[in-house]
Amino acid sequence: MGKGGPTIVGFCCFYCAYAAADLAGVMRLSYPPNVRLVLLPCTGSVDPVYLLRAFEEGADGVFVAGCLEGQCHYQAGNLHARNRVRYLKALLEEAGIGGERLAMVNLSSAQGPRFAELAAEFTRHVESLGPNPLKAAREGSGHGDAGHRGS
Ligand code: FES
Repeated sequence: MGKGGPTIVGFCCFYCAYAAADLAGVMRLSYPPNVRLVLLPCTGSVDPVYLLRAFEEGADGVFVAGCLEGQCHYQAGNLHARNRVRYLKALLEEAGIGGERLAMVNLSSAQGPRFAELAAEFTRHVESLGPNPLKAAREGSGHGDAGHRGS
């Protein structure tokens, strides 16, 4: 976990969560600066590999933020994302990384304050879980096998 708290990556739908994050900014609402957003056209386009890669690259927590159920601009993209997140949570739990590090949330573009709240709540939650074990293992081994090369 970094000095500023856990690293959180949020995969946000352009139509809702990303717009809500923007609105939070316009309203000058603060949320933890360690939350990094990735813009998606719809959460239905989030590939499970992206989410796993975020953990592999050191995220302590990852959330997928889509439109409210029934309001996806691509009809059911957020429902597909919800199913992927549910599946990956079980996988992360099984792998010892912790399913609670991954979350799915739904927002409308008008919910700037809710976005700021969710970002802060999720950051606190991930902080209580401690650092991503993958990152800790990588740091403990001296960043991969580079130190073991040579004679
Ligand atoms: Fe927002 Fe599909 S368009 S989740």
